Amino acid sequence: MRTEDFKLIKLKHDRIDDLVDLENCSMKTDTTFPLTKDELTRLYEEGYVSYGFENEDSVLISKVGFSKIEDKNYELDVCVHPDYRGGGMGHEIIKQSIDKFLSENPGSDIFLTVHPDNPALRLYERLGFEAIKDDEDYKINQTKNGPRITMDYKKTNK
Ligand SMILES: CC(C)(COP(=O)(O)OP(=O)(O)OC[C@H]1O[C@@H](n2cnc3c(N)ncnc32)[C@H](O)[C@@H]1OP(=O)(O)O)[C@@H](O)C(=O)NCCC(=O)NCCS
Repeated sequence: MRTEDFKLIKLKHDRIDDLVDLENCSMKTDTTFPLTKDELTRLYEEGYVSYGFENEDSVLISKVGFSKIEDKNYELDVCVHPDYRGGGMGHEIIKQSIDKFLSENPGSDIFLTVHPDNPALRLYERLGFEAIKDDEDYKINQTKNGPRITMDYKKTNK
């Protein structure tokens, strides 16, 4: 199945267990921090919005989430099942999810944070995210999850 043929579905809070299963496929490393059930439960209580792709067996294989930081300001997270990586699914689900999210939440700002060594940084740049910079270099913030670069989505449909 081609990535553009997957149909985006909205994931309500009753899909938390499926989201946890998917997150747990990505082991915790220096560059990635899978969301836990407790974290997802709290995020949904605070207005989390999430979309996903399912395979032919209705198993969730990728997701994008938008955590509400404050009114109209959302942080994006993404996870693709390891068996489906490297074939464009990450690109496709981020693109479709942002389009859908902004059509449902017009005027919202979207950002994400990424470890400086995560190769996904270049994927995000191609999708329209821009890193906040100190002069010419990426600005790196030290967080509880280690160093992180913040990237703002620049194509909002305001
Ligand atoms: C990041 C992630 C969503 C990318 O999904 P994907 O389906 O592999 O993405 P795509 O196939 O659309 O794009 C791959 C591109 O992303 C980059 N990339 C992302 N992760 C990569 C990895 N682990 N190894 C190599 N390249 C990677 C490459 O630059 C590649 O670019 P290319 O097309 O020029 O080769 C997926 O690797 C994932 O879920 N990782 C674990 C969780 C994570 O890191 N989340 C992001 C935290 S900020």
